[in-house]
Parts: sequence; C-alpha cells; structure tokens
Amino acid sequence: MSNIESVLNEIRVFSPSPEFTRQANVSGMAGYEALRKAAEQDYPGFWAKLARETLLWKKPFTRSLDQSNAPFFKWFEDGELNVSYNCLDKHLATQPEKIAIIFEADDGKVSKVSYRELHGRVSQFANGLKSRGIRKGDRVIIYLPMSVEAVVAMQACARIGAIHSVVFGGFSAKSLHERIIDAQACAVITADAQMRGGKLMPLKSIVDDTLAMGGCESVHSVIVYRRAGCDVNWNDALDIWYHDLFNSQPTHCEPEWVSAEHPLFILYTSGSTGKPKGVQHSSGGYLLGTMLTMQWVFDYKPSDVFWCTADVGWVTGHSYVAYGPLAVGATQVMYEGIPTYPDAGRFWKMIQDHKVTTFYTAPTAIRSLIKLGSDLPGQYDLSSLRLLGTVGEPINPEAWMWYYNTVGQARCPIVDTWWQTETGCHMIAPLPGAVPTKPGSCTLPIPGIQVAVVDETGEEVGKKHGGSLVITKPFPSQIRTIWGDPDRFRKNYFPEEMRGYYLAGDSAHRDEDGYIWIMGRNDDVLKVSGHRLGTMEIESALVANPLVAEAAVVGRPHEIKGESIVAFVVLRGARPADPAKARQIVESLRDWVSKEIGPIAKPEEIRFGDNLPKTRSGKIMRRLLRTIANGEEITQDVSTLENPTILEQLKEAIL
Ligand code: WTA
Repeated sequence: MSNIESVLNEIRVFSPSPEFTRQANVSGMAGYEALRKAAEQDYPGFWAKLARETLLWKKPFTRSLDQSNAPFFKWFEDGELNVSYNCLDKHLATQPEKIAIIFEADDGKVSKVSYRELHGRVSQFANGLKSRGIRKGDRVIIYLPMSVEAVVAMQACARIGAIHSVVFGGFSAKSLHERIIDAQACAVITADAQMRGGKLMPLKSIVDDTLAMGGCESVHSVIVYRRAGCDVNWNDALDIWYHDLFNSQPTHCEPEWVSAEHPLFILYTSGSTGKPKGVQHSSGGYLLGTMLTMQWVFDYKPSDVFWCTADVGWVTGHSYVAYGPLAVGATQVMYEGIPTYPDAGRFWKMIQDHKVTTFYTAPTAIRSLIKLGSDLPGQYDLSSLRLLGTVGEPINPEAWMWYYNTVGQARCPIVDTWWQTETGCHMIAPLPGAVPTKPGSCTLPIPGIQVAVVDETGEEVGKKHGGSLVITKPFPSQIRTIWGDPDRFRKNYFPEEMRGYYLAGDSAHRDEDGYIWIMGRNDDVLKVSGHRLGTMEIESALVANPLVAEAAVVGRPHEIKGESIVAFVVLRGARPADPAKARQIVESLRDWVSKEIGPIAKPEEIRFGDNLPKTRSGKIMRRLLRTIANGEEITQDVSTLENPTILEQLKEAIL
C-alpha cells in the first residue's frame, strides 16, 4: 500500500515546454482535444480515415468496424495489405539509403543496415522460408537473441503471411515446448547461442531438448543463425543454417496480400491460469496502432534516432522495434546485451554514440541504473535526447524524477505508456507536446481510446476511488482471440458483468483531473523486472516437482525488480528440521523452476509449511500470504483457518 499512497500524494505537474509543443505532431491540448472529439463524433469514421491515411492498401476496405460477432471484432476486414510492404517497400522510393537499424552487439561492435538492405534481406529470407514449404497461415516460432536477424525473421513471416510466435530467449525448453505444441508450429528459427553481458548462452541445444521431449511432429525445419560460432548438434533431417537458406535466394519476394484481419502474430503471455495465452493480433489494425502511437506518443520526426530497449521476445519489442519504427521509416538503435555490461553507463554511452533522440525503457532498468551509478549519465553527452519513455509497470515518482532530471536534463518530456500484450500499442499515455505529465501517472488515454475505472458490476466509480480498468469501446489494435481458445478469450477479457467492456486486469484510479494512476494487477499476474509472469504457472511448475505437494506463489514489492517472487511450499514429506537441508531443497526447487519456465521465473524466496492457509471453500488466502511475505502484521480475519499455527511456520524465512 505504501507505494500506492506515495503515488496518491504526488502533486507535481510538468507541462511541455513551448518549444516542444510548437514542433509536436499533436500540438497543445487543443490538438489533443480535436482528435478526441473527432473520435467521439464518428468512431468508425475516425479510425477509417486514419487507416486510409496511414496504411498502404493493395485493396481498399469498405467497412471500418464490424461488431456483429462481439467481442470478436473485425476492423477493415475486406481490405488487403501486407505489413512487411508497409514497413519496407514503402521506403524504397523515398529513402532507400536511410539507416533503418543501428545494431550494437554485446561486445560493442556496431553494424548499420539501410532500408534497401533490410528490404533485400527480408525478401531473401522470405524466399528461403518459402523454399522450405512455409506458406500463408503457417506458424513459425522465433527463438532468437536481439539481432537484425530477429527483425528479418519477423518481417519475412509477415511478408509471406506466415504467423510468427516469438519466444523470449530466457524461456526454458519446457516453455518452448508448450508454445510449439499449442501453435502447432512448422518451423523454429533460432541461433547457436546468444551473447549477453560477455557470456555465451546456448539456444540451439535448448531447441534440441525441446524437440526431444516429443509431440513436436509439426516441426519440419529448424533454422539456425550462427551468432556465436559455438559447436552445435546437427540433425540433417531438420536443421538448416540461416545463411544457407538465405544466401542463394533472390532479393525480390512478392508480398502475400492478406486481409486486414489476417493474424500477423501470436505472442504467448501469462494470465490467471497455469497455461500461457496465445494472444493473436491482426495485420491492419495492429499496424495502424503501432504507427499512430509512433506519431502521437513518440512524436516521431524523420530526423529522430529512436531506441526502444525491449527484447523482441516481448510485445514492446514487437510494436516498437520490429514494426512501428520501420513502418514510419525511422532510424532505430537495437542492442544485443544487458544495460549493466561492461558497466552501468552502457545505455548512456550508446545514447551519446548514436545520438539517440527518443529513448524508451522499463522502470526496472531505470531503478537498477540509479542503484548502480546514479551519477553516470552526467559523464556522457546526452544532449541529443528530446523525449523519454517508460513501459511495463508503474514508475515510482522518485525514479521518474531521476529519469527526468538526470537523463533528460529537465528538457525532455517523459511518456509513461500504459498498455498490454493484448492491446498491441499504447492505450493510456501523454501526447508529449500536449498533455502535462505527473510523475507516476500514465495520464490520459490516447485519442480514440475510451477507458473507465469500474466496480465489479461494471459501474464507473468516482474520481479518487480504486477500481478495475476497462476499455469501453473496441479499437483496431486489440487482441482478436486467444489462439485455439475463443471461449477463454471471451470469458477472460469480456466477462458478462463488465457490460461488453474490455477488462484489462489492472486496478487503477482517476485523480481530480481525470488522470489515470495504475495501481497494479488485480489478477494473479506478476511483473518481475518488467517480465509478465503468472503465479499459477510458477505454482504448476513447483507442484510438478516430486518433492512438492502444494504451492502458492505471491509477489512482494522489490526495490529494483518492481516485484519479486515468493513461494510457499508444502512438501510431500515432513518439513526439513535441519536448516542446511532446508536450504538445499530451496536451491533445488529454484533451479527446478528455472528449468521448467526459465531463469526469469526463479522464486527469490521459498518457505515451507505443513499446510497453506485456505478459506472454508478451499481457496488459498493469497492476501494473507502477501502480508506474510512482506513481513507485515496480519490484520485479516484468520478465525476460519483450520490450523493457525501454520502461519507461524510460514513466517519463518530460510536463511
Ligand atoms: C503493466 C507490456 C503501469 C500493467 C506493454 C499491464 C503498466 C501489464 C504500464 C501488461 C505503465 C504496463 N504503468 N503499469 N506504464 N505498462 N503496465 O503484457 O499491469 O507485458 O497490465 O505488456 O504491465 O504487461 P505486458
């Protein structure tokens, strides 16, 4: 609660400077209001006009929004286009030699790719995919490190109408397996290894382990990019080198023209159950959302050098690395490694070296860089910066102020962007030349997006009251369905009591100016270092261990990571009396979770009890566990607990 309260007390307001406002794509509150009003007056017409102006269509659409089968909304459905054409071919006539990607490797080596080169590489790789029989609608898993090749792979899929599903390189064989099977993927694109922080981490061998688990018969090709040059096992029947597939191909590949509703990608994300959801996005509506927010929220200018630090394994790396910046024709920086290598000045040095104008990162990165060297930005020339952004979790006002003063030198507006894997692009964020910002608030919805804070019946709560955040009208970039599970999609995001609103899963409140303050998830989803993880997934992983009978996982506020994972575990045998033995079991369970899901899901702490606190109906009392994990006084009613002594057990940390 203390975090929420400090945010509630925040009263500082930062208006954009007149110089920023003057040059902004949306200038002043009048500009913002004009767009907002246009959306209010003719909602489908507003989006149709933008879709016509912003995207290149092979065949124009005649209908904007189709809500006949709500909540399975369709946008611009009878129109045909190709996303890769919109990101690449479009620029060939106007700016072929402009640098599209400045790639900096872990070791500092820089390579630059122009739009012409990128177009050629994407076309070659698209032809390579076709030569393996991959066609429109086929699912392709991309399990690659941050690299130009990852963007090429995503764009190449889009070019031929194949549906990509990028799996973050920090996920384990088990997680990869689950996603390959759910998507029934025909190919996996991977690398021999990834380089991060000077360390080599294998990827191909994880793919080998995944396929050896069985059930992946749908996969007929494993395409391997040679990044590290390390030894890999080779299976001639499946494996092919990326460069072999690529080099022999022509640099022309006619794009596959698809309906605006054709799925562009599936991205798996955590929800309230043990099984990740395959969030399915469209082609037209999704691209429109990423392009408009590049213009509106990032105030994109052709002279910008844009840098979004997100990995392509997450939605931020899809919308603001692989698609949005290319679609608007930006020069962007891409970085292979971690923010703290070789030291915590790496980001600042890269901003200086590449003259970055627009920098977009996560609060967790900001907090760790404050901790490791709050004075380091001062050692670099950051005068190129003109706009800063954050995403992924609420930013605490102190970190916001540091970012504003020390990185932005009190010159650059900060866009705190609230959105989700499911929304495809920013939903609530300041337009930087218009909306004054308040540290810790994502401010107001972007034009065309209507949000509300409601109670459990869908009724709007008053200002300054907490409630559930909903989006009240369909919008082009939204999730279309959960891959293979339309029922779960409807129940999860459009539950009956919510009156047809999209339920975000976050709690929030509005202040007296109508500004939105996100208070965190109100389902069982955690944000650990910006990574979205489901408590149920971690619990399922724990109970899959032969030592474990039962497990409950909760989040605990963490100074740098935002949240950390605490697991309460009931072992099959007795609780270990010997502390050394207990520590050994804790370590083995942490490693186990790391293998089951990935190192990102490792619990920070594990505690043992003879039982877990449950309600009479058998539901685990998570709120109580959160209180215990935080070391706070228990104020909840515990009279219904069968065995109150277990609370004492669970309070005991294993040191
Ligand atoms: C949280 C990331 C506060 C929120 C793009 C949301 C935020 C979840 C913000 C989605 C923000 C994202 N302020 N909270 N600016 N941005 N969140 O799917 O809880 O990885 O529901 O998408 O992150 O996480 P996801």
